[in-house]
Amino acid sequence: MDILLIGSGGREHALAWKLTQSLHCDDLYCAPGNGGISQYATCVALDIMDNDAVVAFCKDKGIGFVVVGPEQPLVNGIVDALEAADIPAFGPSAFAAQLEGSKGFTKDLCAEFNIPTAAYQRFNNAPKAKMYVRQQNEGRGAPIVIKADGLAAGKGVIVATTLDEAIDAIDMCFEGSFGAAGAEVVVEAFLEGEEASLFAICDGQTAMLMGTAQDHKRVGDGDIGPNTGGMGAYSPAPILTQELIDEVMSDIIVPTLAGMHHKGHPFKGILYAGLMLTKDGPQLIEYNTRFGDPECQVLMPRLKTDLVELMLAAASGNLLEIEAEWDDKAALTVVLASKGYPAEYEKNTEIEGVDAAEKSGALVFHAGTAEKDGKLLATGGRVLNVTGFGNTITEAQTSAYMAIDQIKWDNGFCRRDIGWRAVEREKG
Ligand code: AMP
Ligand code: GLY
Repeated sequence: MDILLIGSGGREHALAWKLTQSLHCDDLYCAPGNGGISQYATCVALDIMDNDAVVAFCKDKGIGFVVVGPEQPLVNGIVDALEAADIPAFGPSAFAAQLEGSKGFTKDLCAEFNIPTAAYQRFNNAPKAKMYVRQQNEGRGAPIVIKADGLAAGKGVIVATTLDEAIDAIDMCFEGSFGAAGAEVVVEAFLEGEEASLFAICDGQTAMLMGTAQDHKRVGDGDIGPNTGGMGAYSPAPILTQELIDEVMSDIIVPTLAGMHHKGHPFKGILYAGLMLTKDGPQLIEYNTRFGDPECQVLMPRLKTDLVELMLAAASGNLLEIEAEWDDKAALTVVLASKGYPAEYEKNTEIEGVDAAEKSGALVFHAGTAEKDGKLLATGGRVLNVTGFGNTITEAQTSAYMAIDQIKWDNGFCRRDIGWRAVEREKG
């Protein structure tokens, strides 16, 4: 069948790379795609937030299956629109995508179905939110976490270390710093521990593990500086032992699926659980309803099973009939970003040496590039993801940085310590 992939980042490059290895994939289209995805797919300039345009394109081309990468079109109901037109698609309905699109929705689901997560309250006005904050932590307020309810491109969460910071964060939300996403606010208790992510593919009733990973959200070495979309990741996350994975599946993922089913809106697609491993056990920080970026760039190379078969089984409610097989090797990806990211950065600077990086055995996924007159140009903040492999995370880290060092790009930078937690652990 011909497949349409929605999105334009490194995640979608990794998906395109994997989808085109499937026996079920004839022509792959990608909307809008990027300079790396175009090696695998015909890139089409569709507005992915215009559901009618996407449906019309699929009908015109006879698309047999649609795979949605990013969260915005999911929350915007792209899967509902496609299914209404009898076009099978991989991803949750708009209702089910609220697990990512509304933090309050997810917290209420956790409360209703006894899923471990930080204590919280929802607010639609600043005075009540501030009053609540002032009552927390025996009147000290902080540390406490303030979250804009809706999608805010990863920016709507403020971990406040003082009462003043928390009060400012509440004002920012209600004064519109995060647009409509901040019209409602979740205030929640600060959780202490190490973060890790677990991915599950879901068919509405059944959930199957799709790997574990750890991301690096801060821009600088040693986890300092502003938050980003993610500066690097590795998989598997050794901190998530089989025992912890079983606990997360049974105490967090399974009750979430059961809860959504009970509400009459079964969840299909990828459930990405952001977890805090606290001394009292794993707690859910948040859900995303899609693959992570850059986590997908370490998951796809480790997946041995045909991705289209898995996704078709999930979309049609038949996950029990298929198994996912994984490579034991470790994968680690480093994000090369434009200098200045996550703030302002220069565009259209030239990158050389990607071929040499790939010859060293790494995979280079493009996140924000375009090709012009035979030159590769950086067009985004996060630009390339270089994924290395090895028997350990340490080996995968060495392989990724060896490949990175082949790339010549004056306007680029990367963190040099991706994987440090796992590498420290491997040293024993
Ligand atoms: P989120 O967008 O919900 O993943 O939040 C972004 C980041 O904020 C997370 O990756 C955590 O590092 C941090 N965070 C969110 N909620 C909490 C919490 N309740 N306690 C401590 N840190 C948190
Ligand atoms: N890497 C974090 C995310 O995809 O949300």
